[in-house]
Amino acid sequence: MFHIYRKNAISEEGLKSLLPHFALTDEQEEAEGILVRSADMHEEKLGAATLAVARAGAGVNNIPLERFAEEGVVVFNTPGANANSVKELVLCGLLLAARNVLPAVEWLREKQGEADIAKVAEQGKKQFVGTEIRGKKLGVIGLGAIGAEVANAAVALGMEVYGYDPYLSVNGAWRITKEARHATSLEELCKQCDYITIHVPLTDKNPGMIGEKEIAAMKEGVVFLNFSRDKLVDEQAMGRALESGKVRLYVTDFANPLSMTFPQAIVTPHLGASTEEAEDHCAVMAVKELMDYLDNGNIRNS
Ligand code: MLT
Repeated sequence: MFHIYRKNAISEEGLKSLLPHFALTDEQEEAEGILVRSADMHEEKLGAATLAVARAGAGVNNIPLERFAEEGVVVFNTPGANANSVKELVLCGLLLAARNVLPAVEWLREKQGEADIAKVAEQGKKQFVGTEIRGKKLGVIGLGAIGAEVANAAVALGMEVYGYDPYLSVNGAWRITKEARHATSLEELCKQCDYITIHVPLTDKNPGMIGEKEIAAMKEGVVFLNFSRDKLVDEQAMGRALESGKVRLYVTDFANPLSMTFPQAIVTPHLGASTEEAEDHCAVMAVKELMDYLDNGNIRNS
């Protein structure tokens, strides 16, 4: 019988129903399979029994891939399993940005207790005029599962979508509607778009891939959304661009000491995949990958 160690975030109850002929263990050293969500494993020394690690999520930057490969440990992830949830939050970010929802709510809260609320509301209505997203240009950097879902949803909402993915091949392409255009370069995408959203995995080659040069190519007053990883963006450069007004708003799902200081930012605590549905889908897919490997030697999404 194989043993599974549950590192974090996957409910024990859910696991028991999925793992009828596996035993859950509290001893990581004796587990052949490890399930992990976002805990950082770089400092982790695996036990001799470990054969596979399944990451319930898309990004594998919390896993030392090379070292585990040298140790003969297979690593799985769950691409696409949380894509719908991330897409929904990206759309939420786009709409919050376009309609000035958060500053309006904050402004109105401060008016509490004023005698003539109707007059206050009239003033707010004028002060927080927004724009529609229909007809606006959205750049999607990275057209994997999440980027493709975002691109298609934005097209359905009437946006003009420019996708860019240097690694996109015909065979590897996710289903992107024909109505979305493919930008030939990151620079072209930056020049064209009113909103830009990034959906690429963080690797050791791309920290800061959105930096001074890319920001300089962007339109004045662009809105930039980051639901991938904060390190993909040079946030020092982003801070300067927010200060000058070059970037009107930075919507980021990553709270860190710097992003928390930006006045023109909507910062959320990595909520992209934090839905009941996404957590279930990722956990189920990760467990199935582990079982299939340990039982049958099959490798999927490695
Ligand atoms: C992912 O990589 O799948 C997302 O960042 C979600 C998460 O890990 O919580």
